Amino acid sequence: MGGLRAAGRRCHLEWQVGGWKILPLSPTGSLPVILTPVSKRFYITTAIDYVNGAPHLGHAYEKVVADVIARSRRSLGDDVFFLTGLDEHGQKVQQAAEAAGLSPQAYCDNLAVQWKALAQLLGLSIDDFVRTTEERHQRVVQVVLSKLHAAGQFYKTTYKGWYSVREETFLTEKDRNPDGTWDAKWGQVNELSEDNWYFRLGIHQAWLIEYLETHPEYVTPESRRNEVLGFLRSEKLEDLCISRPKARLSWGIPLPFDPEFVTYVWFDALVNYFSVPAAHGDLAALAPLGDYYAGKAGSFSAWPADIHLIGKDILKFHAVYWPIMLRALGAPLPRQLLVHGWWQKDGQKLSKTTGNVVDPVAVIGEWGLDAFRYYVVRELGIGPDGNWTDTGFGDRYRAELANGLGNLVNRAISMLNRYRQGLVPSPHLELAAETTAVVEQTAQLYRSFDAQGALVSIWKLVNRANEYVEKTAPFRLAKDPTQASRLDEVLYNLVEVCRILAVLLWPVIPHTSDRIFAQLKQCDAPDRWDLTRWGRLEIGHQVGQPEPLFPRKDLAPGGK
Ligand code: MSP
Repeated sequence: MGGLRAAGRRCHLEWQVGGWKILPLSPTGSLPVILTPVSKRFYITTAIDYVNGAPHLGHAYEKVVADVIARSRRSLGDDVFFLTGLDEHGQKVQQAAEAAGLSPQAYCDNLAVQWKALAQLLGLSIDDFVRTTEERHQRVVQVVLSKLHAAGQFYKTTYKGWYSVREETFLTEKDRNPDGTWDAKWGQVNELSEDNWYFRLGIHQAWLIEYLETHPEYVTPESRRNEVLGFLRSEKLEDLCISRPKARLSWGIPLPFDPEFVTYVWFDALVNYFSVPAAHGDLAALAPLGDYYAGKAGSFSAWPADIHLIGKDILKFHAVYWPIMLRALGAPLPRQLLVHGWWQKDGQKLSKTTGNVVDPVAVIGEWGLDAFRYYVVRELGIGPDGNWTDTGFGDRYRAELANGLGNLVNRAISMLNRYRQGLVPSPHLELAAETTAVVEQTAQLYRSFDAQGALVSIWKLVNRANEYVEKTAPFRLAKDPTQASRLDEVLYNLVEVCRILAVLLWPVIPHTSDRIFAQLKQCDAPDRWDLTRWGRLEIGHQVGQPEPLFPRKDLAPGGK
């Protein structure tokens, strides 16, 4: 990674060497002599999914939201690094592999194909896909463990207690039911006496409280931050068991300082956010790893992560364990956790056992990718829990996509073809100010990771433009030759709004945006925010033929 390489998109190429950017000194660019540091990429991650089953709505939602953030930052001009992947170690995977009669590695390799296919089906613009069984990841985990061990952060002791196999955790007396039994959610509970390695989390508790108090942006939304602070202020932080005896669980990364043990799956999994930039030669991730990685730095710069997008159930791992691990290592901390709620269907928990599931692959097969992406982003913002209903999906599809956006684009392009042979009239400003206000508001919402808010803002323009068609009634103007210049004005405003809508919508429904641009015969892609400037459609430009973006459907998903 240390060599000279070309970077950048489209025609904007720059040369980089060892974390420095070479700027041309002469105007012709023939004498490149100034070195400036390569700027850090906007780095967004999702949780990495367990490979012990098939992907469902919850997994797909999180990945789509992350993709919308990644795409919007790219559109707004950032260089982005978007990472997702799979969490492949641990007891659950070992057990699932045994049940399938496969080695854990073969089991993971099979399922990884399915999960990677989902990433593709969802249209994720990922820059890397990590699997925790990859060597590049395992090596970094082992270096992190060795460093923390050498720094005296770990100790070994014997623990006797009740162990939940399903949840891979020791239980305390507080976890018992009032009648002394264990709740069914813990699955099989066995009494175990075990030697293990522990991480001295407790010594970092005061620091963590202060850190969260002085960095309100670290855990968002605020309600989640209050949850973490409430817990930290009221309970003593127990040390964390970071090992599992090989005799009980062999499917994990071996502890480098004690061959009888493998690493606890969460300690291993969290490191993925850090091991991937390290593997790409990111100095900020390599430096804390010390001598082992000396000389491996390249021009890649992403750490610390800007956003870890995660679900509410894994908040403690990310808001408590992860910052302490990084601090103990001497590494910079990520900027922000964005914690989303959970989806239900028809007001009930998603569950394979009861059949209360939404299969993203089936919905996309039936309704198209952009309808799925639109619905999940529009329906559930970051924070509360969401409820999928087939009727709600069908209603949004009909009202907002087919009758709202689809109808607008169709009418605008059809009328331009019908009344002006598809030739753009001279630019006009009637909807310019309102459009620019929506553009600015939408940019602001995307910048604050509020994709749902961005869609609400964009639909103000969709609705306004549809009303404009009703009010100006171009079909009537067309019948009156004295209204020819008014008709030109109206048609210009309509197609220009459609062009700008495609750019605003690209982060959420990129294929629809591409199709609008294709129908408008634009040679650029709608992926750059500067294309939202009013008036770029030029007089005399020939647009193409309209094609329905969201064909009308009479049924809700699942045929109901
Ligand atoms: N492997 C761990 C994460 C390790 S991150 C270093 C894990 N995996 S998971 O497959 O169980 O969950 C992956 C993500 O999907 C989590 O962020 C989780 O919150 C999210 N969801 C799982 N079910 C969900 C819903 N029903 N709704 C929304 N998101 C949900 O945890």
